[in-house]
Amino acid sequence: MNSLSIKELLNKQPIGDTVEINGWVKTFRSNRFIALNDGSTIHNLQCVVDFENFDDNLLKQISTGAALKISGILVESQGRGQSVEIQATDVFVHGTADPETYPIQPKKHSLEFLREKAHLRVRTNTFAAVMRVRSTLAFAIHSYFQQNGFYYMHAPIVTGSDAEGAGEMFKVSMLDAKNPPLDENGEVDYSKDFFGKETNLTVSGQLEAETYAMGLGKVYTFGPTFRAENSNTSRHLAEFWMIEPEMAFHDLDANMDLSEDFIKWTLQYVLDNCQDDLEFLEKRLLDEEKSKPQIERSEMALIEKLKFVVENNFKRVTYTEAIDILKNSKPNKKKKFQFPIDEWGADLQSEHERFLVEKHFKCPVILFDYPAKIKAFYMRLNEDEKTVRAMDVLFPGIGEIVGGSQREERLDVLQQKIEELNIDEKELWWYLDLRRFGTAVHSGFGLGFERLVQFATGMGNIRDVIPYPRTPQNAEF
Ligand code: 4AD
Ligand code: MG
Repeated sequence: MNSLSIKELLNKQPIGDTVEINGWVKTFRSNRFIALNDGSTIHNLQCVVDFENFDDNLLKQISTGAALKISGILVESQGRGQSVEIQATDVFVHGTADPETYPIQPKKHSLEFLREKAHLRVRTNTFAAVMRVRSTLAFAIHSYFQQNGFYYMHAPIVTGSDAEGAGEMFKVSMLDAKNPPLDENGEVDYSKDFFGKETNLTVSGQLEAETYAMGLGKVYTFGPTFRAENSNTSRHLAEFWMIEPEMAFHDLDANMDLSEDFIKWTLQYVLDNCQDDLEFLEKRLLDEEKSKPQIERSEMALIEKLKFVVENNFKRVTYTEAIDILKNSKPNKKKKFQFPIDEWGADLQSEHERFLVEKHFKCPVILFDYPAKIKAFYMRLNEDEKTVRAMDVLFPGIGEIVGGSQREERLDVLQQKIEELNIDEKELWWYLDLRRFGTAVHSGFGLGFERLVQFATGMGNIRDVIPYPRTPQNAEF
């Protein structure tokens, strides 16, 4: 007898066959009905057990969370809510779960409570659905790039470079923190450290991806990235996964096209392959929103929102146009923004991004041609010498989901920029080499994987779409 997953069984429905399944008890009713779930699908399989026919001890061992192997005959179900059920002939208890201490009971637990039990929360419907969607999205992302001529490139995790120039990096060091070796100036002597230089966890694989694009043509990275910024928001993690495509011979327009096509394709893939989970998550969201005031509820249900994004063009707007809209907007005039917009050059905060997306355009927006002053050193300078070929994709409910740019391919312009920003040119010798040997127009972007998972699942907090969130003061598990 083959053990099938519940998903396979529900698909095949081999009525009359003797089958065997393994899973965890979701609910146990009337000392007779066990709903078993094995994680393969949101659906449980109902098993009917006549306990009179079993050892007296068995009944005591059945409770929510217990792991069981049940075999029996698959029959059409008499009850409501399921098409088939198992008439159990054999029940094996892999492991019990004491109801006095097992924290995941068949009732509504708050997401905050479940974060404290992150090692068990995947046994809830919500987290199992989110994590299945996450897995499917990751596969969709690889499929998209592989089908479109991109090669998967593994950027290093430990690096000596600070791609974003933001200085928010986790140090990697083997030096004795209490008694580090010092140089003649009294500074920590990193030449004595493991790598013989100062190193950190990567904040972005972009600069290394650029080197590979300038040889393989089109590449993408998909790996963990780390930021030691102290932001306790529902959209920031200290460890998150980023996807970074990089393309030689492609300009900013092509980059914007790619970002839009890529996001739409992966969301369509989820719509096509995660229907049951999305329906569950949509209902969950509607329930959650019932407790919110009307104006805070979203206008579209989850699946409708995903379809809307897939079927409509993203609105492309320059930073300059966006500033005009924001300057003249109601919340700005009524001083409702925490950071009022009064002149060109202001950095956009998430309140501004969300106004543009949710109130003004009511669709995803790609903002481009930002002021050079508020963007990273590597972005290509425009003819106006004030703006750079940067782009951000902004999403409803999320804000920035993608950040990217056309890269500065001109050696002299890049060197001048590096000098202005007091970056040590020696640190970037290899990056500058790309501009010395066979330089060419190229561009790319970074998409925050968890933010995409948040959008696809409707989860409000980024801590609930990654198995073990790392945030300030929190690295349990
Ligand atoms: O805009 P960012 O900082 O861009 C870069 O790192 C570029 N080097 C990417 C590139 O051009 N190759 O980050 C890219 C995306 C953001 O738009 C956001 O979705 C996500 O990464 N992100 C975060 N996600 C979760 N937690 C954080 N702390 C994040 N910081 C950025
Ligand atoms: Mg950004």
